Amino acid sequence: AFVVTDNCIQCKYTDCVEVCPVDCFYEGDNFLVINPDECIDCGLCEPVCPAEAIYSEDELPADMEHFFDLNEKLSQKWPNLSERKDPLPDAAQWDGTPDKLKYLIE
Ligand code: SF4
Ligand code: F3S
Repeated sequence: AFVVTDNCIQCKYTDCVEVCPVDCFYEGDNFLVINPDECIDCGLCEPVCPAEAIYSEDELPADMEHFFDLNEKLSQKWPNLSERKDPLPDAAQWDGTPDKLKYLIE
């Protein structure tokens, strides 16, 4: 499966949602996750994320490995998002800020 990681937090551009053929994205207040059981590994979302926040689980950087479990957990809890929407208002300022997990609203 593909996995959404740290740099999506506080940005949530949602370009990824628009290209996903199986609508397996789930939305929280300031982050988006992929349901790993529904993702078909098409890879379409990875290159369209402006924040470069999406990785294949096989290519997750070592410091992002905990995001696999987080995507799985939160995708059970959050509602589905199947259409693109506006990014969060300060997305451009947050893009690239390291270690945003502490700001995550679950
Ligand atoms: Fe959707 Fe494909 Fe991305 Fe999986 S890899 S989340 S199926 S766009
Ligand atoms: Fe997040 Fe990138 Fe999608 S910032 S909402 S993973 S386009």
